[in-house]
Amino acid sequence: MKILIKNIKGLAGVESDTLREARCGKEMDKLTIISDAYLITNGGKIEDFGPMNAMPNGQYDMVVDADERFVLPSFCDSHTHLVYAGSREIEYMDKIRGLSYEEIAQRGGGILNSVERLRQASETELYEAAMERLNEIIMYGTGAVEIKSGYGLSLESELKMLRVIRKLRENSPLEIKATFLPAHAVPKEYAGRADDYVDYIIKDMLPEVAREKLADFVDVFCDRGFFTTEQTERILFAALGFGLRGKMHANELDMSGGVQVGVKYNALSVDHLEFVGAKEIKALMTSQTMPTILPGAAFFLNMKLSPAREMIQYGLPVAMASDFNPGSSPSGNMQLILSMACVNYRLTPAEAINATTLNTAYAMGISQTHGSIAIGKVANFYITKPIPSIEYIPYYYGTNKVERVFLKGTEYKGMT
Ligand code: NIG
Ligand code: FE
Repeated sequence: MKILIKNIKGLAGVESDTLREARCGKEMDKLTIISDAYLITNGGKIEDFGPMNAMPNGQYDMVVDADERFVLPSFCDSHTHLVYAGSREIEYMDKIRGLSYEEIAQRGGGILNSVERLRQASETELYEAAMERLNEIIMYGTGAVEIKSGYGLSLESELKMLRVIRKLRENSPLEIKATFLPAHAVPKEYAGRADDYVDYIIKDMLPEVAREKLADFVDVFCDRGFFTTEQTERILFAALGFGLRGKMHANELDMSGGVQVGVKYNALSVDHLEFVGAKEIKALMTSQTMPTILPGAAFFLNMKLSPAREMIQYGLPVAMASDFNPGSSPSGNMQLILSMACVNYRLTPAEAINATTLNTAYAMGISQTHGSIAIGKVANFYITKPIPSIEYIPYYYGTNKVERVFLKGTEYKGMT
């Protein structure tokens, strides 16, 4: 299948020279845009692009006239928990009344509430609900997504979640990465015995997950009231023994030491980062770990904001993902993340687009094939509605600016 998209008002996120794995510091503000452009895909990959006056003659299976429309690389959403059962608007009300995240967790709400429901749900129910969410995020421009387990918290239920993710991966046009998150919370069977639960994770859960090759990464919620740095180290060390790299929840609730532990074990990313100071920035500066901010969770929980600008000033890259989950961020709309990136974190639209495409691709281990418009990369992109500029996307917030979606070189028109 060979496709030509012509008369593109602006083809954004283009890389024509050396391909970058991620964009750091000042480079984050560089977003190459070719005005009045064409784009050719062939067999699911990007084959060629350039200005209209250099467009080659050729035979195509499909020609799209993108008059007045922009083309951007699909979002890569590197942090979600979108396999879940039920919803949690009761807690939402508790939060409005002023209860903290930890207070809600202590009352058996929060993550454990989703655990209860997930354990009772069948694989089919979970699969169907998650597939609908995938369809929704595709239509908002997402082309790759990481999905975590972490609402099972027993071998049986974690395997159930991971098998659902595997099935989604087999049947969805999205690029999907699976993260095993057994240390999301201490399940009620282990209440007060977190160390025993960590033993169980290491001895019983990890080997089985690795044997069935169900996960690409391993995550730990290393924070006050959840898992300690020592427990996190044990899990990350054991995971590396199975060839599984860490991707962590860290420093959301406190200067928990999570960032430093993540860096020590060469985690691919450390996510949340509301509590980041000089020590955390210093640790990240000599690492291969992607600092990832989750603006939707900070918004929804009304938390203090991660110091994104400061990290960028120190030359760090910053990635931004949705954290789509039923408790702290019930939305996978990455266009909203762009708006929050600009308004709340003072990122420029160019920085925000890099933070949600190339840098999140890095945080999923796929930046060599995804996250920008480059020859040979997977043809994952969207065509906007007619809009005046790229900046208009975060500016005109709250509505969908995506008109057509192409994933792996094929137009996606919604679930059949
Ligand atoms: O990323 N911080 C920890 N975990 C999730 C919350 C999941 C939930 O509340 O169900 C998060 O925000
Ligand atoms: Fe999360």
